[in-house]
Amino acid sequence: MKSPIIQLPKAELHLHIEGTLEPELILELAARNNITLPFPTLETLREQYEFSDLQSFLNLYYANMAVLITEADFADMTRAYLRRAQASGVRHAEIMFDPQAHVARGVALTTVVNGIASALASSVADFGISAGLIAAFLRDESEESALEILEALLTMDAPIIGIGLDSAEVGNPPSKFIRLFKRAGEAGLRLTAHAGEEGPPSYVEDALNLLGVERIDHGIRAVEDRILVKRLVAEQIPLTVCPLSNVRLRAVDTLAAHPLPQMLSAGLNVCVNSDDPAYFGGYVGANFDAMVAEFQWDAATLETLAGNSIRSSFASSARKDELLGELAAWSAAQG
Ligand code: HPA
Ligand code: ZN
Repeated sequence: MKSPIIQLPKAELHLHIEGTLEPELILELAARNNITLPFPTLETLREQYEFSDLQSFLNLYYANMAVLITEADFADMTRAYLRRAQASGVRHAEIMFDPQAHVARGVALTTVVNGIASALASSVADFGISAGLIAAFLRDESEESALEILEALLTMDAPIIGIGLDSAEVGNPPSKFIRLFKRAGEAGLRLTAHAGEEGPPSYVEDALNLLGVERIDHGIRAVEDRILVKRLVAEQIPLTVCPLSNVRLRAVDTLAAHPLPQMLSAGLNVCVNSDDPAYFGGYVGANFDAMVAEFQWDAATLETLAGNSIRSSFASSARKDELLGELAAWSAAQG
């Protein structure tokens, strides 16, 4: 590969904006809002970033959200992500946020949405990144709570393109959220859900069959079920894979043991994403760099992955064509 990964035009489809809060920004916002954190210095905060599973990460992720209070806080966090995404060669980003986690802390939904949306409104002009916003619902909360927030988002005409499903997966199957996804689909929203990160392959199947999702976030445990893999290949269901996240949350033992190469050769529609980059050791460029170092991916493999990310996005066909054109130019320059 001749050029650095930043030059590979790509879309990021699996990104939690709250997971982009870097420790430095956490402390800055805590000071700005007069909030006392349990880990008030960079050193003590950084010591918390060792995770044993998804839940151990979620505990810190939700605790750190306490510093997000005003529209400006949400806007600053979002702009900081876009700046880093630009440095990773991201040209289109679909960004999840967790409305329930903020409303539960007493932050108004309009504060959250307006703050993030104000940064996204100028992301093409500021960073050359087209962007869409996805409201992700917490699967360890009730469906009623999710439906209430969805209705509020629809009533306020929030600029969201879709909904997702995240948080603690095991024990919270897709079947819990059938009415939520039905309502969102009827409202014209695009549908995605986390499945097969820690949960079994049957959750991937249920997300497709019961929720009608168009994409699966993670989906790595699908490889345990040959029949499911056959279906995912046949239907080219996008799987938004996050290699560094999977290692840090111990969904896989090591990067060398990551199933992504196997998924690629099976013909699955996979792409590379960062999930919660401030917590897992890097943005999407770092995820690509780590995989290239581990698996010696060639230019053709990188083109496949970037092409999958662009084609699997919820961008307009005009924007997809534009980015696929940029990707073709990148490919030609690789010789
Ligand atoms: N998995 C599930 N829920 C999440 C994650 C994740 O990786 N990040 C933020 N919420
Ligand atoms: Zn995620």
